[in-house]
Amino acid sequence: MQADISAIEAIEREQFSSPWNRDQIKSEIDFPGSGLFVAETQSGQVAGYISFRLLPPEAELLRVAVSRENQRKGMAAALLAETIEKVKSGKVREIHLEVREGNRVARAFYESFSFLCLGRRPAYYSFPTEDACLYRLVL
Ligand SMILES: CC(C)(COP(=O)(O)OP(=O)(O)OC[C@H]1O[C@@H](n2cnc3c(N)ncnc32)[C@H](O)[C@@H]1OP(=O)(O)O)[C@@H](O)C(=O)NCCC(=O)NCCS
Repeated sequence: MQADISAIEAIEREQFSSPWNRDQIKSEIDFPGSGLFVAETQSGQVAGYISFRLLPPEAELLRVAVSRENQRKGMAAALLAETIEKVKSGKVREIHLEVREGNRVARAFYESFSFLCLGRRPAYYSFPTEDACLYRLVL
């Protein structure tokens, strides 16, 4: 578990302008109703992860990220597919998430799972300031 947290921390720093630190990762894991899956390479290295909260009948997706060297290999798609199966079994009917308006890759990723952008939250993000697109998937 400690090794997984270190690997997640490294991917956070690589992929996000406001990365979660070690304590934030730990407290997210400990949060009641939270879930976190990791994807590993064939050699057992953590290549990506997904973090979500179960709030039946809804779930919130907080993070999905894959290390640069492992992107475009279907890792995030596998993590999201597993998460959808998990939350469905927990009586969840809708998944919500926010994403930076300018995060073209993440938006294409979520849209490939039929998430729909239902609105915007102005200046939701900082470093840099940016609107959030609010996405929803009805299961
Ligand atoms: C978004 C992210 C998680 C995708 O991870 P990934 O493992 O590379 O994605 P996958 O290989 O599973 O791709 C699944 C689908 O997403 C879409 N997609 C993924 N990367 C894409 C890209 N660079 N350009 C366009 N579409 C893309 C495609 O539809 C793709 O399906 P396809 O390969 O059959 O075309 C990854 O780019 C990442 O870590 N980004 C930085 C962190 C981030 O912004 N997270 C989201 C906000 S929390």
